[in-house]
Amino acid sequence: MLEARGQAHLLRWWDELDAAARARLLEQIASVDWDTVALWNAPPVFSARGAVAPLPVLPRTEIEARRAAFMQAGRAAVHAGKVAAVLLAGGQGTRLGAHGPKGAVDIGITRSVSIFGRLMENLKEAACLCDVVIPLYIMTSEENDAATHAFFEENAYFGYPQQAVRFFRQQMGPCVDLQGKVLLEAKDRLAISPNGNGGWYTSLERAGLAREAESQGVEWFNVFAVDNVLQRMCDPLFVGATLLSGCATGAKVVRKACPEERVGVLCLENGLPTVIEYYDLSEELAQLRDERGELVYSGGVILNYLFRADALKAIASVRLPVHVVKKKVPYLDESGVLRDPAQENAYKFETLILDMIRCAGSCLPFEVVREHEFAPVKNRTGTDSVESARKLLQKNGVEL
Ligand code: UTP
Repeated sequence: MLEARGQAHLLRWWDELDAAARARLLEQIASVDWDTVALWNAPPVFSARGAVAPLPVLPRTEIEARRAAFMQAGRAAVHAGKVAAVLLAGGQGTRLGAHGPKGAVDIGITRSVSIFGRLMENLKEAACLCDVVIPLYIMTSEENDAATHAFFEENAYFGYPQQAVRFFRQQMGPCVDLQGKVLLEAKDRLAISPNGNGGWYTSLERAGLAREAESQGVEWFNVFAVDNVLQRMCDPLFVGATLLSGCATGAKVVRKACPEERVGVLCLENGLPTVIEYYDLSEELAQLRDERGELVYSGGVILNYLFRADALKAIASVRLPVHVVKKKVPYLDESGVLRDPAQENAYKFETLILDMIRCAGSCLPFEVVREHEFAPVKNRTGTDSVESARKLLQKNGVEL
């Protein structure tokens, strides 16, 4: 099989391996999804787009006008235990270059303030507002699972009831070199990386936690990224607006600051809600303005989504598109030496949560105030860095 797929090099050191190492390697090879690996040189997922149209954003003015009704519906749902929080923390944070989980990064100045700590403060606020302990599911990866657990232990779960916090691991996938050959990171081990945030629900199911949540009455999952330190989860206003809209999903969006801003835009494609990544949106659509001079495609997603539990079952049965991402991956060279490349030398395969929105069929784009809810930490310096996030936190009165 490996020969037929051009991957026989994976057995290069077979003769040197003892029985246990051979068994480990074979088990790992058997778990590879080879159809996905074969996509390494396929054209980009969205090389051909359908008919794109705007999806109107629920604007702040309307949200404020209907605040009381949204709050009432949202608080009642959260209070009744119908909403769970899902923290996506399985990413590698390669751009930030931090060792260990991204959530453990200290963004404090005069005191220690971790990203996880900030998020837990916001979760506690929502829990307090709705007078309930909100269940929290944290997705980790094989790489950072132990360290994430340990961090929560060391910090006494940031004062949140420990029994309400559950961890689950996402799946991993192999990395290939720029010729499509699967890389090894040891003689008996493939180089693997987390398979993207689109697998969160299948991983939650595999861990038995989706069923557990539903048996406890959870009807909605509020899924959010670890790396927005102003992230507001289980926010009753958002929950209420989504519930009352009748949509199967909701997405918090910010008004794009400029046509070039690097955020995905929520719109319609062939009549279905779709997030188009900034690099896939044509220049013409990115620049398009309405009669008031506002950007038509303006709803930028910030990775904070609500999913209705019944819609997730249908989504889980669909095969999401696979995105091929270039990255730097340490690998064993032909002489058996571990190399840490200076340049991107590999592809990894990811499915993305934003593609789940399309499968759900309906989505409410809910506008949030950027300065209050969007402070991403992606890069070491400059835009979306610890430095820029600190400034935004301080503007929001957070002492660092
Ligand atoms: P990013 O797309 O920014 O990826 O993740 P990343 O791996 O954290 O960072 P880079 O690209 O290597 O610099 C957005 C969110 O999705 C989560 C991340 O933890 C973050 O909350 N994520 C990403 C996962 O949980 N699993 C993945 O496989 C990828």
